[in-house]
Amino acid sequence: MPEVRLENIAKSYGSTQAVGDLNFTVGDGELVVLLGPTGAGKTTTLRLVAGIEKLDAGSIHIGGQDMSTAPPAARNVAFVFQQYSLYPNLNVYDNMAFPLRSPVLRWNESDIRARVEQIAGLLKITDKLQNRATHLSGGEMQRVAIGRALVRDPAIFLMDEPLSSLDAKLRTDLRLELKRIQEDLGATILYVTHDQTEAMTMANRIGVIEAGRLVQLGNPREIYQTPNTIYVATRLGHPAINLLPIAAVSDGQLAHGGAPGGTKTLGVRTEHIVIKKVKGRRKSHGVVERVNRLGDQNHLHVTLGEATEIITLVPPDTELNVGDRVAVRITDPIWFDPSGNRIASRGC
Ligand SMILES: Nc1ncnc2c1ncn2[C@@H]1O[C@H](COP(=O)(O)OP(=O)(O)O)[C@@H](O)[C@H]1O
Ligand SMILES: [Mg+2]
Repeated sequence: MPEVRLENIAKSYGSTQAVGDLNFTVGDGELVVLLGPTGAGKTTTLRLVAGIEKLDAGSIHIGGQDMSTAPPAARNVAFVFQQYSLYPNLNVYDNMAFPLRSPVLRWNESDIRARVEQIAGLLKITDKLQNRATHLSGGEMQRVAIGRALVRDPAIFLMDEPLSSLDAKLRTDLRLELKRIQEDLGATILYVTHDQTEAMTMANRIGVIEAGRLVQLGNPREIYQTPNTIYVATRLGHPAINLLPIAAVSDGQLAHGGAPGGTKTLGVRTEHIVIKKVKGRRKSHGVVERVNRLGDQNHLHVTLGEATEIITLVPPDTELNVGDRVAVRITDPIWFDPSGNRIASRGC
């Protein structure tokens, strides 16, 4: 079973702790996404698993074997780097065949051809196999770089933001394709990114990391709906979750009668809010400040009281306009205590 287990791994560079006490397992055939901002320790984690960096502490098991001190070649991992690194003098076919021709693997040429053609087909680059690696668009180059990893059958693929240098349209296409290919091949992948959409759409489980530590690990729905902390809550959701101080809302606005004891902050997403225009002298909670029209949807900015703004999604045909007074009702938001930890809801 090529399961990959990271146990209490840590790595510092001088006084900078890049990875501190990281613990998790990537199951056979599973795609785990580590999600975190720049500097969170994502690349370092992958380099530790690959054996390009030495562990300060902890252990790494691949397929049940302790690989903590094994050299990279012995670990049977395939790495896809953030910046595609192709051999410029070789054509696409030879770039993809390269790992299979290594002295360690030594495939015969007819097996190599069958495998390269299979993977090129999955990645839709069959017609580019004879192109020089430099005679490709950025998106095609990255497909080749991914293909060069996929031709192998490693215990685990390590992917370091492989789509981040592509434009938005290519990124959308390729992340869906990559997910489909992963399912087709039953590949085990540890994928790191700062892109929440990649994490939500590709991951079986998401690990949110902050400053080299795992703050939550769970399936995308759990991470989205029941974030452990405000930090995790702000990683997912577009527009970002609204964080409202408890003092900015009145009990009357809250469904099910008020916040649980100890609440300091409400995490409020679009699906937790109902906004209605109020007419005449009826009581309102806020005023529409701005309507950002994005085509298929609008972002509505509403000021609550003096200083609190919420941003929420509304349909493109919304009747709300700047200056409208509105009632804002909040149902089942996420409650956070003064330390920023989620308070379990009262189950009503
Ligand atoms: N070779 C290195 N030497 C010194 N500091 C490093 C080195 N590699 C990474 N770091 C530091 O470790 C931290 C984590 O880096 P990294 O793993 O590259 O984060 P990410 O990939 O999430 O952006 C950062 O503070 C970074 O500056
Ligand atoms: Mg990185």
